[in-house]
Amino acid sequence: MKRSVLKWPSRPEQLGALALLGVTAGGAAIAAIGFEWAQAQSQEIGVYSGRHYNTDKKLYQQFTARTGIKVKLLEAKDDALIERVRAEGRNSPADVLVLVDAARLDKAADMGLFRPTSSAALKRDVPANLRDAKGRWYGLTRRVRVAVVNPKLVNPASIRTYADLANPALKGKLCLRDRKSVYNQSLVADQMILRGDAAAAKWVKGMTANVTRPYFTSDTPLIRAIGNGQCGVGLVNTYYVARMLAGDNGAADKAVASRLKVVFPDPAHVNISGAGVVKTSRNPEAAQKLIEFLASPSGGRGYAEANNEYPLKGYGSNPILKRFGTFKADGVSAEQMGAKNKAAVQLMARNGWK
Ligand SMILES: [Fe+2]
Repeated sequence: MKRSVLKWPSRPEQLGALALLGVTAGGAAIAAIGFEWAQAQSQEIGVYSGRHYNTDKKLYQQFTARTGIKVKLLEAKDDALIERVRAEGRNSPADVLVLVDAARLDKAADMGLFRPTSSAALKRDVPANLRDAKGRWYGLTRRVRVAVVNPKLVNPASIRTYADLANPALKGKLCLRDRKSVYNQSLVADQMILRGDAAAAKWVKGMTANVTRPYFTSDTPLIRAIGNGQCGVGLVNTYYVARMLAGDNGAADKAVASRLKVVFPDPAHVNISGAGVVKTSRNPEAAQKLIEFLASPSGGRGYAEANNEYPLKGYGSNPILKRFGTFKADGVSAEQMGAKNKAAVQLMARNGWK
């Protein structure tokens, strides 16, 4: 069995019986999970989640309170979970697989890891462009990739679309996260779908010509660099800025983020976190119920707020997101973005995106 780096629930006793077969290697905790399948299978589901926000657990507890179905949670990085479900095959204790980014949901679906499901509730609550047409996965929260601007260096009004970031006037001022970022891959896929391959290639080439600093490996350091004036503008997911503004990363980051302006390109690229029922689930009905709960207006609001994301519809009630204002989603299908992922990575490589 393939073993992956795992983060264990902070209070496993709340989440049911977990059997740790743990060893360590390279300082990382490595463990395997065992579920007590003998007892009341109908009352328990296993959830593997690439989301890793403490507040998600509250939602699972609410679900249990409502339905009596217990949730056993395993959190790890998305790609590790995909590999794990594949390797476990029919022995997998996972009933629901939660992943971040349309490209990863699409990848898991292509690997045959999901079992198609359909319900009136899911059709009603999840907009058609944020779910798989075959019902293998459903979006649960929305995240928007935006321009973050340091107004001392770049006029926020000069950025109205993603295309504006290719303006040669931004030479030396634009900073980007690297090509390995699935968030950037999905953004490029989105622009290929919306504007065509040739226009997207020209756009990427123009942007990469503006980049003079090393590419970043995650969004938060990129936001800090913009706040500290090393960069004038960059592309990041809104929730990273919101997290800093909320003080979750400490006072210094809060001060940095408060100097910045979030600009929604018009129209804006919207990505998702989402979930599907695992093909080998022994309890697909209960698994589907959890997804329905997380997609519902009440469950979904909490799931989005846990990570300063947007719910499937509307803006939610997060006061920090309210400060960012409203955006117009470009409406591109998450499934199409996933399908374009490989082509997007190639286009990025060909046009200088490191
Ligand atoms: Fe993220």
